[in-house]
Formats: sequence, C-alpha cells, structure tokens
Amino acid sequence: MPEKILGVLASGRGTNLKAIIDAIDAGKLNAKIGAVISDNPDAAALSYALSRGIPAACIDRKQYGSKEAFEQAILDVLAGCRAELVVLAGFMRILSSHFIKSFPNRIMNIHPSLLPAFPGTNAQKQALDRGVKVSGCTVHFVDEGVDSGPIIMQKSLPVLENDTEVSLSNRILHIEHMTYPAAIGLYCAGLLEIKDGKIRILHSPS
Ligand code: GRF
Repeated sequence: MPEKILGVLASGRGTNLKAIIDAIDAGKLNAKIGAVISDNPDAAALSYALSRGIPAACIDRKQYGSKEAFEQAILDVLAGCRAELVVLAGFMRILSSHFIKSFPNRIMNIHPSLLPAFPGTNAQKQALDRGVKVSGCTVHFVDEGVDSGPIIMQKSLPVLENDTEVSLSNRILHIEHMTYPAAIGLYCAGLLEIKDGKIRILHSPS
C-alpha cells in the first residue's frame, strides 16, 4: 500500500509530532508528513518539524480577518501537500463544521483521558478531581462535537494515590507517544472500518 500523506496541526511543544516522525523514520508507520501547520508562531512543533526537514507553516489567526479565512488558509496548505489524513497533535482551536466536512472521518485527535470521560480542557485535572482510579488516552476521529467522535484506540493506566496533575499528565503523555502512531498506522493500513459511529479494527492480511 502506498504511504499516506499526513497534515499535522499542532499549537505547542509537539511531543506527539515527534513520536509520529520517529515512528515514520523507524519504518513503523507507512506515512509521510506533507506539512506541519501551527496557529502559534512560537510553537516548538514548527521549529522541530523544520529541524527534521519537514515543511512547516505558521498560519496565525491574527493575520486573518475571519475564522473562515484562517481555516481556508490551513485547508489550502493541506490541499497543496495532498494531505489524506489530518492529525491534530495538541491543536488548540475548535474546527468549524465546514473544515470537518472537508475531511470526513479523516481528522484524528488524541485526548488525555479515557473518553467519553473528561472531554475538553484539563482532562487530567478533571480525572484527579473526580477521583477515578484509571485514566489514559484516547485516539478518535473528529466530529462536530467536543472530543465526541468515533473512538479508534484507547490505552489505560492506573491513577496513583500521590499523582499530581503534572505526574499524571506526564505518564499519560508517555503512553500517548505509543498510542498515536499505532492508531495512525491502522488508518494508513486501511484497517479502520466505521459503522454506526463505531470503529471496527480489521485484521491485517499479513
Ligand atoms: C497532549 O496531551 C494531547 O493529548 C492533547 O494535547 C497535548 C499535546 O501535547 N490533545 P504535545 O504538543 O504533543 O506534546
């Protein structure tokens, strides 16, 4: 199967981006990153992409008169590199219905909780405040709700008695770095089937 082209959207430090690049370079993920796009000129993800020879574009919301124009600029970069899958890696903006409809079931996100528990921001703090004993991360397709799209993959870990927001976030981040490339890999291998809003993972022929 030919490699899939990914467009990665990241607003911040980009550790998931790094994990994806590492998986590609290690031959574990049959994909190529066509472009890394950030809305934040200071995002470490941008300089990191460039340091690894990946095209990177800053599309700063402040430079655009409307959300539509801002999103269109992102869509233009994605079209320019022929992105087949959009990967949200810490992208801090809510995408419009128009944007989501441009990539139906072709936008992935990773969230630091076991959805549907604790959607939205500060998921790790929400988990600690609620006193759950297990948390983790979820990779899902993006639909028009907040962290509500079809679930592709989840990994869990225990919440420890002395966990703080920082320690829990760090341990979840560590499993995110394995889970995200694995979930993207299933998509790239054509092994995800969606029916009635649920995902079935097909068996690899090999
Ligand atoms: C991760 O915790 C991810 O779950 C959330 O945003 C964070 C991004 O971190 N969606 P990084 O920029 O990939 O390090």
